[in-house]
Amino acid sequence: MDIADEQVSPDARVPLSKYPFVIIRRVARAPSYVTAGLSVGVFVCILFLFTPPGFFHGFGHRPGPGPGHPPPPKWRWPPLMNDNSPKPKLSGVDWNARAENVKSSFLHAYHGYEKYAMPADELQPVSNGAVNNFNGWAVSIIDSLDTMYLMGLHDEFERGLAVVKTLDFRKHDKGVPFFETTIRYLGGLLSAYALSHDFSLLQAADELGMALLPAFNTSSGFPMFAVTPSSGITSGSRYGWLAEIGSFQMEYKYLAKLTGRKAYYDVAQRVTSRLNTINLEHYPGELLPAAWFVDEGIPGGDQVTIGAMADSGYEYILKQWILTNFTEFDSLNLYKRTIGAYLNYGLYLSPGRNLLYVTDFTAQSPSRRFEHLSCFVPGLLALGAETNVLPEQHLSSQERQVHVWAAKGLAISCAAMYNDQSTGLGVEEVVFLNKWEYQAKRDARAGLVTSTGSPSSEIVRKDQENLRWMNVLQAWQNGEYKVASDEGSQMKGSATGQGIVPGLRYPPLPVEDKPEDREYTYRQRDYRLRPETIESLFILWRTTGDEVWRELGWRIYLSIEKECRTPSGYAQMNDVRNASLGLQDSMPSYFLAETLKYLYLLFSDDSLLPLDKYVLNTEAHPFPIFSWTDWEKTKFGIS
Ligand SMILES: *[C@@H]1O[C@H](CO)[C@@H](O)[C@H](O)[C@H]1NC(C)=O
Ligand SMILES: *[C@@H]1O[C@H](CO)[C@@H](O)[C@H](O)[C@H]1NC(C)=O
Ligand SMILES: *[C@@H]1O[C@H](CO)[C@@H](O)[C@H](O)[C@H]1NC(C)=O
Repeated sequence: MDIADEQVSPDARVPLSKYPFVIIRRVARAPSYVTAGLSVGVFVCILFLFTPPGFFHGFGHRPGPGPGHPPPPKWRWPPLMNDNSPKPKLSGVDWNARAENVKSSFLHAYHGYEKYAMPADELQPVSNGAVNNFNGWAVSIIDSLDTMYLMGLHDEFERGLAVVKTLDFRKHDKGVPFFETTIRYLGGLLSAYALSHDFSLLQAADELGMALLPAFNTSSGFPMFAVTPSSGITSGSRYGWLAEIGSFQMEYKYLAKLTGRKAYYDVAQRVTSRLNTINLEHYPGELLPAAWFVDEGIPGGDQVTIGAMADSGYEYILKQWILTNFTEFDSLNLYKRTIGAYLNYGLYLSPGRNLLYVTDFTAQSPSRRFEHLSCFVPGLLALGAETNVLPEQHLSSQERQVHVWAAKGLAISCAAMYNDQSTGLGVEEVVFLNKWEYQAKRDARAGLVTSTGSPSSEIVRKDQENLRWMNVLQAWQNGEYKVASDEGSQMKGSATGQGIVPGLRYPPLPVEDKPEDREYTYRQRDYRLRPETIESLFILWRTTGDEVWRELGWRIYLSIEKECRTPSGYAQMNDVRNASLGLQDSMPSYFLAETLKYLYLLFSDDSLLPLDKYVLNTEAHPFPIFSWTDWEKTKFGIS
């Protein structure tokens, strides 16, 4: 089939109504919006005992925003990081105590789940109800087993294991979503096995892996959206997303390693090979697009994104290279090509504060959307820029420098999306303004009438192109970068190519305006207890040793405690700009699997989970890095 004939915009053509679930990296099922005024109180006071005096100016006694009184920034940014000073330390912080705080938060959430919801999938933390939204196999337990193991929670782990032993995945006679079932259940079973060596977990993983295999019964080898374990019947649209078709190879390759079953290796490698060899000339930088025809195994739309619907597809390219102990050169080359092209085409500076952001685009233009989901990108970049992951022969020191800059700049912006809000919680999705929209907004605020009519689309396009990070970086390196007046005096040395790298100003310029006046508009205003920003802070802490990243994670943690905690667990927040708009009755299993795990790891000693021994799947389940034996290479046909 000719791609040109069949081009679809994912938004327009994919029949979402056919999808039983919203399929994105971390699904948050649209809950019933339940507003509840919930006070936190005592626990937060206890947290403050662990906090050095003077650290949180304004925290806890924020004046309400009134007319003429914009909300102050949520917290002060921790001390400036400095590339030249090795491992700057914040004095007087007891990181172990902070890790213990996170552990008690986990226990609060998990005990609430056990009390009100077990063995259903998830707790409803406002109504103390229970909900089955991922096959009814106790996803909160299986997703949390490795977190419990790492936290040393033996009793909870044993109780969870007892429930897992009662499950029989193979008898299930309804369709289960392949992607979510793989990353949460299969990933959770495999990592819990890797840590505990409890054989029943491997048996369960093998049964589940086998039950899901019929999903690959397509002519391309791409997995179908859903499969019914009891019958092997598949279902789903003929369109699939990159995240769905390309985020299972870590689980299946590790399962092949543990069981010796060739079928597991084959289904994974078939997709990896196809993504490596397919003709992508149609796309800028030959990037992998978001939408695909599942059966034909060919691209199905114009949109390129590393956010929702695609994210972990990019993530698993690098992580397969790591998981197999740096032996899959196809994956290595695909990562270098795709991430390089994404840095070129998908990163922009905002007008105003010059925040670096990553967005999705078509050949015509960037959408300028910035999603919480894409805040895993700084962590991915930082991980790939490690010299043991991509040594000098694979990534030049110049390229490495750009990857690290992008990682830091994006992480600062991801943290700013928390700090900008009066709740201190990260907004789900914003759209950055273009230069002209921003100017009009400022004029309006200043009471000016925007001078001339609207600029031509060609001028708008050109001005946006001037904000593309790679263009700015090039100009900066050539000494041609002009400091916008907004950037203030701290952005110095631009004329000589010296000074702060564009997009890396730290701390970012303060927001003194009202939320409505920012250089972005709010597209989805909720905080869904998502992990991505914390995940990136964790990787940056591990790869740079700079405690500033840990400290930012702590501030996010305090906001979660203050705003999201309920008597039985933690709930998603409806509007990060206004806590009184209440909470949603939902505590996704990824909050236990990822958000709290990454926070715990961020404050714990590196030896708890060394990153030269483990690599985490997209649901934060750690798998040990392994090498294929000669026997396995022969059996599986690995060259
Ligand atoms: C694969 O799909 C075909 C039809 O598309 C069907 O006839 C066959 O039975 C399926 N095989 C398995 C193993 O499910
Ligand atoms: C927050 O929402 C409440 C309830 O709708 C409203 O009364 C209040 O004015 C809002 N506050 C702000 C700062 O927007
Ligand atoms: C990974 O490869 C290196 C170099 O070949 C080897 O020394 C190391 O033992 C391998 N690690 C694992 C876990 O197999």
